Amino acid sequence: MGNDLLQKTLEEVFEWFHRYPELPDEEVKTTDQIRTLLQNRNIEILDAPLNTGLVGIIRGKKAKPVVTIRCDIDALPIHEETTLDYKSCTDNKMHACGHDFHITSIIGAAYLLKEIEHELEGTVKLLFQPAEESSHGAEKVIASKVLEDVDAIFGLHVIPNIETGRIGVIAGNGTAAVDRFIIEVEGIGCHAAHPNEGIDPIVVSCQIVTALQTIISRNINPLDQALISVTSIHGGNTWNVIASSAQLEGTVRTLNHKTRDYLHKRMKDLSENIGKAFGAKITFQWFPGPPATNNDPAWVAFASDVARNQGLKVVTIIPTLAGEDFAYYQENIKGALISIGIGATYPLHNSRFAVDKGALIHSAKLFSALARHALIKLSTEI
Ligand code: NI
Repeated sequence: MGNDLLQKTLEEVFEWFHRYPELPDEEVKTTDQIRTLLQNRNIEILDAPLNTGLVGIIRGKKAKPVVTIRCDIDALPIHEETTLDYKSCTDNKMHACGHDFHITSIIGAAYLLKEIEHELEGTVKLLFQPAEESSHGAEKVIASKVLEDVDAIFGLHVIPNIETGRIGVIAGNGTAAVDRFIIEVEGIGCHAAHPNEGIDPIVVSCQIVTALQTIISRNINPLDQALISVTSIHGGNTWNVIASSAQLEGTVRTLNHKTRDYLHKRMKDLSENIGKAFGAKITFQWFPGPPATNNDPAWVAFASDVARNQGLKVVTIIPTLAGEDFAYYQENIKGALISIGIGATYPLHNSRFAVDKGALIHSAKLFSALARHALIKLSTEI
């Protein structure tokens, strides 16, 4: 397929997905459209037990090795405020994180790979993953066992304010482990004029919030990166009653297992012991989310070489404490998450976010080349 035709095709595909955003686990029309687009080019769809999202497959000269290229497909509950002529057709739903770009890139890569399927040194699985924004999609895909034979995996995310024609790479941890916590503080309610007759959970909560911040500043190595944010406090409902309980909630972001485990334990210990000191009962709950992404240095170097051979510039990016559930795949499969420059725009998750459509062709060609060359590399290593 010539570049002009490919670019035109990709733009049409992209604009459709941008018009019809769907929230996590609701990507029914999105999945149908992906299926139609793949089947129109005779690309096989695997029979995977997924409610939304799907896995396509391109079979080369031999069954093994197997490489997966992965995109996410869900949108956000944001009301789009761009002036694009293909803006979202649904109020309060928008592809504001570029997942429409990701879908289009993997479809484009699939079209290019299909044209050369008889030359491929193995199998390519095309993973269209649901529910990235809710952090549960990757776990569903892993539970479906569809990736059990995969030798290497590559994912992508758009990155604003890096020029079109450039990609960003980082070896090791690129995004953070994302955990959520809830701390219940149970005191004893009483008349606000007689605080000595109760145990004030709001005073205890404030002590806990302040103490939690000392973990980052006093307990972890200053050269390590971590974050604790208490994002909500609820307690009490009027001015002259001391509440009987209060609740704190927030998030913890870390870049390695050791710090992650330490923060969990230290936060629990501090909260429980502060509660004990004040006579309040503490229930500490921890909800683990995705781990930190862990990009394999060898695959990052490989992807950088492939990109340069495609005429792309490669820049090294710094880690972010945002999360990405691609990290779940990397616990068992080596690979890399690549950032695709899309030019100057509003930030991700902003109601005016927009990509440069000119970057689509770079991304589609890059992911086609990554799959093709990773199969060659793996074949020579087996
Ligand atoms: Ni995203």
